[in-house]
Amino acid sequence: MNKEIKNKNNILLKASNITKSYTQKKFLKKFVKTVLNDVSLSLEQGKCLGIIGESGSGKSTLGRIITGIEKADSGIVEFEGKNIHQKENRNVKNDISIVFQNYVSSVNPRFSVAQIIAEPLIISFQVNKSKIDKKKIDDEVKKLIKIVGLSEEFLERFPNELSGGQLQRVCIARAIVTKPKFILLDEAVSSLDVSTQVEILDLLQKLKKEYNLSYIFITHDLLTITYICDSVIFFKDGKIEEKINDIRNLKNIKKDYSKRLLEAVIEF
Ligand SMILES: Nc1ncnc2c1ncn2[C@@H]1O[C@H](COP(=O)(O)OP(=O)(O)OP(=O)(O)O)[C@@H](O)[C@H]1O
Ligand SMILES: [Mg+2]
Repeated sequence: MNKEIKNKNNILLKASNITKSYTQKKFLKKFVKTVLNDVSLSLEQGKCLGIIGESGSGKSTLGRIITGIEKADSGIVEFEGKNIHQKENRNVKNDISIVFQNYVSSVNPRFSVAQIIAEPLIISFQVNKSKIDKKKIDDEVKKLIKIVGLSEEFLERFPNELSGGQLQRVCIARAIVTKPKFILLDEAVSSLDVSTQVEILDLLQKLKKEYNLSYIFITHDLLTITYICDSVIFFKDGKIEEKINDIRNLKNIKKDYSKRLLEAVIEF
């Protein structure tokens, strides 16, 4: 009964009143910059929420906080109702993966593709103090490389032997190897050419359906958001400027800032 009430709206991730400041230096003087100011959002199971905003508006900082990489100064992040920053809820992070823009620096250049994909699985075996099942890992890696649209021959290659799009597919395979419920994608397609972007977005759509994944998709590009997201938050100076719950109602945006971002796409 209680469980039903808790999951009534199938809220997977909820961030409430997140505030974050950093100490920065300017002309040798230290000052405190508020990067996130009372940010609240929620994500339903199986949905994709887009976060769009100008460079420096705090999107990646928010991403690090909602995935538990970094702590907020105040506010709460709950995943399936559990505070992800509390030690006793550490295992909640097993359900969370991240794909970054910098796919080149986010992989170990000395690892083969097979090792890159397997790494999170090996870590989870180690964390759970269970015996590493090499056969199971090999089978899983072979399955995943095909799921992300590459053939088994790629498994022996190294990152410098792949194109940007191929390497990002490998990063996506690595992100889903532990069967997460939620993936944060921070500018995950931004540095790819447009046709490769579309291919990767199609792959993400397919995986979302097949695995009932939920995404938060951070970008400064509204076009990618309209392609993959169900709802969108317009982010400015560390605050939510506007939220559109149904992406089909994008034309109903009210704030000038959101309109400016939309016009940039229409002109394009
Ligand atoms: N560890 C840090 N120490 C000090 N300042 C930081 C730190 N991380 C981020 N900032 C500052 O916080 C602000 C927001 O940065 P953030 O990376 O979250 O922006 P963003 O919206 O992701 O930008 P972009 O679109 O360029 O990726 C920036 O002014 C940045 O300089
Ligand atoms: Mg960023």
